[in-house]
Amino acid sequence: MGYGSIDASIFMNMDFEDRFGHLLQDAIPPLPKAACPIVIIGAGGIVHAAHLPAYQQAGFPVAALVDANLEKASALAKEFSIPWATASIEEAIKKAPKDSIFDVAVPAGAILSVLPLLPDGAAVLIQKPMGNTLEEAEQILALCKEKGLTAAVNFQLRYAPNMLAAKKIADAGLLGDVHDMEIVIRVYTPWDLWTFLATAPRLEILYHSIHYIDLVRSWFGNPKSVQAKTVRNPQTASLSATKSLITLDYGEWKRVSIATNHGHKYEGSQLSYAQWEGSKGALHAVMGVNLDYPKGRQDTLSFAEPGGAWQTLPTRGNWFPQAFIGSMGSLQAFVTGDATNLPTSVEDAIDTMRTVEAAYIASERGGVPLNRE
Ligand SMILES: NC(=O)c1ccc[n+]([C@@H]2O[C@H](COP(=O)([O-])OP(=O)(O)OC[C@H]3O[C@@H](n4cnc5c(N)ncnc54)[C@H](O)[C@@H]3O)[C@@H](O)[C@H]2O)c1
Repeated sequence: MGYGSIDASIFMNMDFEDRFGHLLQDAIPPLPKAACPIVIIGAGGIVHAAHLPAYQQAGFPVAALVDANLEKASALAKEFSIPWATASIEEAIKKAPKDSIFDVAVPAGAILSVLPLLPDGAAVLIQKPMGNTLEEAEQILALCKEKGLTAAVNFQLRYAPNMLAAKKIADAGLLGDVHDMEIVIRVYTPWDLWTFLATAPRLEILYHSIHYIDLVRSWFGNPKSVQAKTVRNPQTASLSATKSLITLDYGEWKRVSIATNHGHKYEGSQLSYAQWEGSKGALHAVMGVNLDYPKGRQDTLSFAEPGGAWQTLPTRGNWFPQAFIGSMGSLQAFVTGDATNLPTSVEDAIDTMRTVEAAYIASERGGVPLNRE
């Protein structure tokens, strides 16, 4: 199945022929028939590791690369054969093709200083998180509305090949009634890769579990409420909390939890998965990138029926970088009219930020003290 210049087979093994075959073949993200040029603002680690490799693979043209640090922008532009690099956003806007999509990948604290510089009415993909706090997220949302921007937040996990396939399988009814979703991350994350996190008052939930919160919302919508505890690790004593337990309340018949420990240096007992249980079957998706960040390992997806053996399904590609094709592709498809909705629009993303905020408030409030009267 072709999508203009984009070859959908990069997502799935098209040769797989059993009852999952057609579902896996259809598990592709929204893509434009013809891609628009992209102007990237911010030439840091994530643009190098994921944005640019994804766009290269999808055939999305990158017109320019902007970074406050011109040396960084120039080096990355050279590595990925991007026509030009600059330190000036104004210059990039002046020279960019008219239908350019802006891809803002700066630290959260810089988003509110970059957005005002974009042309009114432009289309923009904003790296997560949508600001450092809910207050900033609300300012970002208001600014996008005021400037008439078509704006989405780069919550890309839902577009990872195994996650697209998992959702297709569940939507086709193969899991039955899904009553359990758990995300378990027990890995070693080298937080020192992000210098701006060294002083961040909020770390794990805002910068990492936010992906799982958004993934859960893409399955079940907004939770009724949130319980959480996020704690610090004595081995990274200068950082704020890097381990979290989050429970999302979807009522009496669903257990939805996220458990993360990013300081686990013990090979063999590291874990990184999302798992769903339904009345007819279960899915287990491994997110390999967390197991050796940022190099990563292979993502996988397995299915089992109650009492049966796990069967690994032939998904292809990984969260990093293939999911980044979906977050940019869905914005482009919306802008070109090839899709009618924008799943990670700022209007939707604000609810992921509200859920994050609720988790921090819940963690600060604490649970029910023991009654020892
Ligand atoms: N899976 C994901 O979606 C994912 C993964 C990693 C990081 N991120 C997010 O991406 C963002 C960037 O992360 P990173 O790892 O690339 O960080 P980084 O520190 O490696 O890079 C950030 C870059 O932005 C540039 N910059 C900062 N302010 C700027 C401005 N006003 N104008 C132009 N350039 C500016 C810096 O010079 C730097 O090169 C963060 O918000 C982070 O949370 C997302």
